[in-house]
Amino acid sequence: MRTGEPYIRIFPGPRELARAAAAEVLRRGRRAVRQRGAFDVALAGGSTPLALYEALASGSAARSGLWRHVHVFWGDERIVPPEDPASNYGTAWKAGLRRLRLSADHVHRVRGETADARHAAVVYENELRSRFVGAVWPRFDLVLLGLGTDGHTASLFPGSDALEEKERWTAAAEDGDPPVPRVTLTLPVLNNAAAVLFLVAGSAKAGVLASLLTADPQRPVPARRVRPARGDVMFFADRAAAAGLSPARR
Ligand code: 6PG
Repeated sequence: MRTGEPYIRIFPGPRELARAAAAEVLRRGRRAVRQRGAFDVALAGGSTPLALYEALASGSAARSGLWRHVHVFWGDERIVPPEDPASNYGTAWKAGLRRLRLSADHVHRVRGETADARHAAVVYENELRSRFVGAVWPRFDLVLLGLGTDGHTASLFPGSDALEEKERWTAAAEDGDPPVPRVTLTLPVLNNAAAVLFLVAGSAKAGVLASLLTADPQRPVPARRVRPARGDVMFFADRAAAAGLSPARR
């Protein structure tokens, strides 16, 4: 796969998308473990990836020896307690991660229970720095991302300060649905990944996905700025979300 150019795969529905995404996560995970003995992955928030987390925690995937070597992070988190239904950590954990018997020190969640998002962002950056010791930017083997209808990804919203952050690895953000304070990985971190995989499902995403993948969009939405210089950009979409793409891209 040539880095930089988006690689698009379209599936009949969300279930097929989740299964293919699980296979891709396992494939990249096994390769990372072969190459360097570990697999550092940042999970996406929101609802689309929950079927993927369920698929990873089912059948032979759940029994893979890979999980002993995985470090799990989150691309963004809402500043709510982990048991809150809005918690990206909490929903991913319940969807399946808890069944993978990950070592506790390999699960690097944002402390959503922290009162102040800025403080939570600093704590999370310290957690990242304790894993990516001495790195100028952390390099994830894989970053999973969702796509908002306004073109946001993680918690990098159009026109936000967090989107323009050039120095820090994490930032506090405030927008989105639910409109709660958030912590997000910053664009330079996403763009230092070895691979990013966008998971896009449902007809509500058809317009934004089409505008994201057209040659010269009217507005460089945040998700379009995710283009790792030394990494792969993949879009896994279901047919409903891909309805706005030209036939050549389907
Ligand atoms: C969040 C997510 C966010 C999400 C998109 C798509 O915390 O809200 O990280 O970026 O991925 O909003 O959400 P859905 O998958 O629920 O449509």
